[in-house]
Amino acid sequence: MTAPVHQPLNARGKLASSLPAEQLAEITELFALRRTGYSLDAPFYTDSTIFKIDMEAIFGQHWIFAASTAELPEPGDYVTVDYGPYSLIVLRNDDGGVNVLHNVCRHRGARVLTEPTGSTGNLVCGYHSWTYSPSGDLIHASAPGETKFDKSCFGLKRAHGREVAGLIFVCIADEPPTDFDETSKIFEPYLAPHDLSKTKIAYQQNIIEEGNWKLVMENNRECYHCDGHPELACSLFPTWGLTEGLIPAHLEEVWDRNKQAQSSLEERCRRYGLPYEVVEELDTRIAGIRISRESLDGEGESFSPDGRRLSKKLLGDLPDFRLGRCSMHLQPNSWFHFLGDHVITFGVFPINEHQSLVRTTWLVADDAEEGVDYDLEKLTYTWKQTNLQDKAFVELCQQGAGSPAYQPGPYMKSEYQVEAFINWYVQRVQEHLA
Ligand code: FES
Ligand SMILES: [Fe+2]
Repeated sequence: MTAPVHQPLNARGKLASSLPAEQLAEITELFALRRTGYSLDAPFYTDSTIFKIDMEAIFGQHWIFAASTAELPEPGDYVTVDYGPYSLIVLRNDDGGVNVLHNVCRHRGARVLTEPTGSTGNLVCGYHSWTYSPSGDLIHASAPGETKFDKSCFGLKRAHGREVAGLIFVCIADEPPTDFDETSKIFEPYLAPHDLSKTKIAYQQNIIEEGNWKLVMENNRECYHCDGHPELACSLFPTWGLTEGLIPAHLEEVWDRNKQAQSSLEERCRRYGLPYEVVEELDTRIAGIRISRESLDGEGESFSPDGRRLSKKLLGDLPDFRLGRCSMHLQPNSWFHFLGDHVITFGVFPINEHQSLVRTTWLVADDAEEGVDYDLEKLTYTWKQTNLQDKAFVELCQQGAGSPAYQPGPYMKSEYQVEAFINWYVQRVQEHLA
């Protein structure tokens, strides 16, 4: 899985070049000593300097999943997105695009918008009322007697934003990596039939996991632990990540059922012209991706105990509810499930070296009515339970990484995506430090 990637990223960042040479050499060596096929050394999960480097080399350079179209449908709607030391405002503009602004007042640095979501015309800082236009220009600052104050020099700093197939991504690098264009072309045809522009938020959950962001991502990239997800196991075949020859005896029956369900799903996809093939380029490109459409157990429609639909309204132009799950993994901070009746987006936003915010959003067709077309409890049950179980797993690992007895352990074959995630991470940071 370790083919070279196409473009170099920006030169070494501020933190990396300001670290004392000895400390930088130590950290560079830690990356160089990383043992392929094994989990990372403890400092990667516990050390505050490595966290700062992660924020600079990964979250400061790459396209980050921030929100979905449904979270800011109208001009003036915004979400604030916080990770590490950064706070960004993602705001729907009058042209239908998104403006991404650093949420740091150019007067004395106060957070300009303090709510996680809302709707606004101009942006008014609550401290001394400096007022910015939706595109970040400073349009009003009371300055009695000031003669040399040039408002045009104090607009909010802008970052990059783009919206693809109903998903919004942000990048704070001066020059974002350009291979996101290619990655978008991979996932757009899979997502377009679900038409996220015609969805609404049924529910959004924010949970703080007491774990390093990489442990959250690692946990998501394998189903070796899926015995720990009884609710999810009703619909998600626990053979995920396994291939012929790796199936343990107790899962043989499930494997056969999965194979049958997958071939009838593929037959339906071919009939409807929906892509389903696995595209897996998690560590072979800068904007790493895995996408596929995979069958669900039971009725094969949704994440319910019997696999039946959880919302009565089909999404977009889909012809059928029985379409399994189109699942996408993107590096560095997201994963998604696109079903016939709803969509679930997951974003990981690091807080510090030992805490991460995981934001889960359930989207349904915009004309679906709660209590009529879907029951919110039932819609969200499986993934609420699964998220709690995953939070516990991540936290157990964080505790382990803090113990002097911790030593990197081997990834199993079914954990190849964890390995790919770590490959991707190590390569990206090494490029940044080089
Ligand atoms: S800090 Fe924002 S107006 Fe003073
Ligand atoms: Fe899990």
